[in-house]
Amino acid sequence: MLAKVHSFGISGLEAYPITIEVDVANGLPSMTIVGLPDNAVKESRERVRSALKNSGFKFPPQRITVNLSPADIKKEGPAFDLAIALGILAASEQISPSLLREYLFLGELSLDGRIQSITGSLCITTSIKKDSFKGLLLPSKNAKEASLCGRLPIFPVETLKEVLYFLENPQSIPPFVLDKTLLLQKDHFDGDFADVKGQIYVKRGLEVAAAGGHNLLMIGPPGSGKTMLAQRIISILPDMTFEESLETTKIHSVLGFVRSHIGIIQNRPFRSPHHTASDVALVGGGPIPKPGEVTLSHNGVLFLDEIPEFRRNVLEALRQPLEENYVTVARASKTLRFPAKFMLIASMNPCPCGWYMDPQKGCNCNSYQIQKYLSKISGPLLDRIDIHLEVPALRSTELLTTTLQETSAQIKKRTTRSRDIQIKRFVNTPISANAHMNHKQIRQYCPLSNECKALLKKAIEELKLSARAHDRILKVSRTISDLAGSDNILPEHLAEAIQYRSLDRNWWG
Ligand SMILES: Nc1ncnc2c1ncn2[C@@H]1O[C@H](COP(=O)(O)OP(=O)(O)OP(=O)(O)O)[C@@H](O)[C@H]1O
Ligand SMILES: [Mg+2]
Repeated sequence: MLAKVHSFGISGLEAYPITIEVDVANGLPSMTIVGLPDNAVKESRERVRSALKNSGFKFPPQRITVNLSPADIKKEGPAFDLAIALGILAASEQISPSLLREYLFLGELSLDGRIQSITGSLCITTSIKKDSFKGLLLPSKNAKEASLCGRLPIFPVETLKEVLYFLENPQSIPPFVLDKTLLLQKDHFDGDFADVKGQIYVKRGLEVAAAGGHNLLMIGPPGSGKTMLAQRIISILPDMTFEESLETTKIHSVLGFVRSHIGIIQNRPFRSPHHTASDVALVGGGPIPKPGEVTLSHNGVLFLDEIPEFRRNVLEALRQPLEENYVTVARASKTLRFPAKFMLIASMNPCPCGWYMDPQKGCNCNSYQIQKYLSKISGPLLDRIDIHLEVPALRSTELLTTTLQETSAQIKKRTTRSRDIQIKRFVNTPISANAHMNHKQIRQYCPLSNECKALLKKAIEELKLSARAHDRILKVSRTISDLAGSDNILPEHLAEAIQYRSLDRNWWG
């Protein structure tokens, strides 16, 4: 007999409907799964067999064929276990096939018949457009995440037996209702800017970057606090909007990074890949394309510590996402586009020994070594970084000071106020921060007085800045004037933005 069960699969960050057809026919006992299954799907055979037996059902000693349709998309993961098990029960006449028609099923089975959590449940619920189903049965651990969005009732289930009881007694499980207070819970950060002594100029640069979502590079000697400062940037970034939280949760959900007891990611992501990372790990890809670090940092921060240590091809792969805010992963069968609107924070020493240009300590490197080290950061990559900050070694007086430093909460108040201005400015557009303005928006929102124009012209000539650097200076100036609560870009705002670009001439010039 033939049975059909409905489920969903994931390709990239999108979900698509799958029909699982199961045929049980006379012949030598066997079970074949077709429809481009990966190894995890193929292994479903063993899990389903044990789960059925251990839940008190018969695994039919016949020839079983399972087809995952559409058959031309590669299927991966164990999320089809539940649907396959139900299909076998219906095809072997242990339950009525009509029971399965009106629901969607997702879940991995463990050998004892318990239903384990799956990845990408939020992507699935946001993709369900049809109202032709009565509800979605999925693992209870995924219920919170799945219910954030979508219109289909969600029925959380724990075991295969429970699913069958529910199908015959639909009142036994009420549809899941999300506790909205969960959406107010935020993670606490250990690090605070109050821990960082001195470095007033660097902290200001980080505040500007956080307010407008600008990319930033810190360069300085060992132990000057670059890593310490970068690790605290999340604590001064404005909170995510609900839409941003949903986008971020959807991405992390596909890789199974969403904690089931909360179900939503409220804190901006901070990703800090090691410098041995490959280009696929950074920008995404693989035989079944998966998002990389740049996509996991979407709406948050990608921190590349010791950036010259990263392989050149890995850094160059960042050029497209830094410019376009998305990554395109092309494969023979299909091209996928992953969002990648992140803030790049990079840190580096100025030379192999780390003390080049330091007024206190001498540098041991020769000019060839310094050039070679700095040239690991290519011109085009440097051009895409809006703010360059020199982080000097801390003087002993600063280090021993007992003066109270400004806390992250105080700084965050200012960056949030500035971001609110930006959100209002870009209402009804896909962007919400100055750093993501396109050329047209720059012309519209960054008009300059004659005095400012003269100042910028002089800077472009003296620092030999590119057209891209010109645009990026205007964006940073807009953020500085928003922080100051000024409608217009004033010469002092522009001068500060220019100063953040002058470093590439000092070091790379
Ligand atoms: N401004 C500061 N205030 C307080 N402590 C500091 C400061 N700067 C550095 N430190 C101390 O020095 C340690 C080392 O700093 P950090 O690792 O951030 O340096 P770094 O600039 O990243 O060095 P490297 O170039 O070697 O990676 C910190 O963990 C902290 O204890
Ligand atoms: Mg460091």
